[in-house]
Amino acid sequence: MAGKKVDVKIRRMVEADLPRVNEIDRLLFGEERVPTWPFSFESYWALYHPELSFVAEAGGRVVGFIVGTLVKEAHSQSVLSLRHTIDRPSRHRKVGWIDMIGIDPEYQHMGIGRGLGEAFYEECKRSDAVMKGIARESDKRLRNFLASVGAKSSDLIIYEME
Ligand SMILES: CC(C)(COP(=O)(O)OP(=O)(O)OC[C@H]1O[C@@H](n2cnc3c(N)ncnc32)[C@H](O)[C@@H]1OP(=O)(O)O)[C@@H](O)C(=O)NCCC(=O)NCCS
Repeated sequence: MAGKKVDVKIRRMVEADLPRVNEIDRLLFGEERVPTWPFSFESYWALYHPELSFVAEAGGRVVGFIVGTLVKEAHSQSVLSLRHTIDRPSRHRKVGWIDMIGIDPEYQHMGIGRGLGEAFYEECKRSDAVMKGIARESDKRLRNFLASVGAKSSDLIIYEME
């Protein structure tokens, strides 16, 4: 179905959506699962109960989701537990982190992810928050997606030594 246009409605996620969102998430495990986010939606939801959460519906069925958390910039903590940031300061007092996004493989590359990203960004703006997301360098698909929403990569590079 990739490439076709469908009528999509973006709305806030409600508890009743969880079984279908978990189903989509499970569809994305395996080869479809990108390296950036290795955890299941179920465990993420149980831990964070994210306040920024939207689903996309096509033909009355949920076909995609985006979830994230809103945190004060001073305590900004990414999904990687990055507590100390040398990122450039911003005029915003809060950060809306995109933690997870997933589109049913049957509905990918149809603009649905971008629609969800835009809804997430609008919500960040309403809360006077800057939107942020983290992607591995090798994760081309997620990086392309973030760029397509209009986000720019920062010059922050993480070094680590075991
Ligand atoms: C990444 C993902 C969310 C993108 O959603 P989508 O609905 O397929 O993306 P869209 O159709 O809105 O396209 C947005 C942009 O993403 C990029 N993109 C989408 N699919 C891509 C692919 N298969 N390969 C490379 N880039 C891709 C493109 O740059 C595209 O912009 P373009 O149409 O101008 O070329 C979706 O493919 C997905 O669910 N992937 C699996 C789960 C995942 O990787 N989640 C992220 C970590 S939590």
